[in-house]
Amino acid sequence: MKLAILSRNGKLYSTRRLVEAARERGHSVRVLDPLRCYMRIASDGFAMHHQGRPLTGYHAVIPRIGASVTRYGTAVLRQFELMGTFTPNPSDSILKARDKLRCHQLLAAQGLGLPATVFGDNPDDTSDLLAMLGPTPHVIKLNEGTQGAGVMLTEKLSASRSVIEALRGLYANFLVQEFVAEAKGADLRCFVVGGKVVATMKRQAPKGDFRSNLHRGGTAKAVTATAAEEDTAIRAAKLLGLGVAGVDLIRSQRGPLILEVNASPGLEGIEAASGVDIAGSIIECVAIGGKKPTTHAGRGLLRQA
Ligand SMILES: Nc1ncnc2c1ncn2[C@@H]1O[C@H](COP(=O)(O)OP(=O)(O)O)[C@@H](O)[C@H]1O
Ligand SMILES: [Mg+2]
Repeated sequence: MKLAILSRNGKLYSTRRLVEAARERGHSVRVLDPLRCYMRIASDGFAMHHQGRPLTGYHAVIPRIGASVTRYGTAVLRQFELMGTFTPNPSDSILKARDKLRCHQLLAAQGLGLPATVFGDNPDDTSDLLAMLGPTPHVIKLNEGTQGAGVMLTEKLSASRSVIEALRGLYANFLVQEFVAEAKGADLRCFVVGGKVVATMKRQAPKGDFRSNLHRGGTAKAVTATAAEEDTAIRAAKLLGLGVAGVDLIRSQRGPLILEVNASPGLEGIEAASGVDIAGSIIECVAIGGKKPTTHAGRGLLRQA
């Protein structure tokens, strides 16, 4: 298989591991910086170049698109899709996952557990909005935040109001959630590949914090997820259309609650904690998809300049 990895930096652990796992399995692989891909969009065919050279004949592409380049990166990925290249994580699925509000609406509609969440725009409605949520503590999070930055805990209603006011003043999009205290600063990251949970780690927030992100100093250890937790993670990934996903759950009295579905989950923490060759399972899953004939129908799709 001729494989492309869309990543801004070939030296990152996850990118390196995917390259290594692909080469070990005899595939040809290239890391492409999505910001160095540019495209021609025309009704007689799609074309894309990377640093002066045409990109053709790729069977599959693995997107590793960081939050800061979501828009451009997914446009590049969509161009690959339109040229008939297989991807485990299509551009539209990544966009659904990145938008926490949209993601929560889709998950809740299927009956998947998540912390009660409210969202609103007008300051005149804030009191009623918070009343719809229930008593403090509240968790306020930026709609497109990552790695725990932009996630705040407010103990008092007055604090919730002032944080909301400040965020509105900055024109930031945010959600407000019930604080799930019984999680005790821990969450589970279930790593889903091809409809299966291949590894799970439990992350524990450092003392004095409620956010368990490894980037915020959280610690990780491998655990076995319950059947209900695995089922929740698998359903969430499937619902968003993600072949590779890091589904973050918290354990609550009413069962697993989804916090987030990560479309470019890091490999370093979970491979270290679990000892599982996750890069290898991603490559094996992609190799199966990359062999299938493309399902994209449309004019000019097979004509690549
Ligand atoms: N409603 C909540 N109740 C309790 N803890 C939460 C809640 N929401 C988030 N957290 C904690 O904060 C961390 C970061 O939240 P998350 O929604 O995953 O944002 P990010 O995208 O920045 O990682 C979670 O891993 C979890 O430990
Ligand atoms: Mg998270």
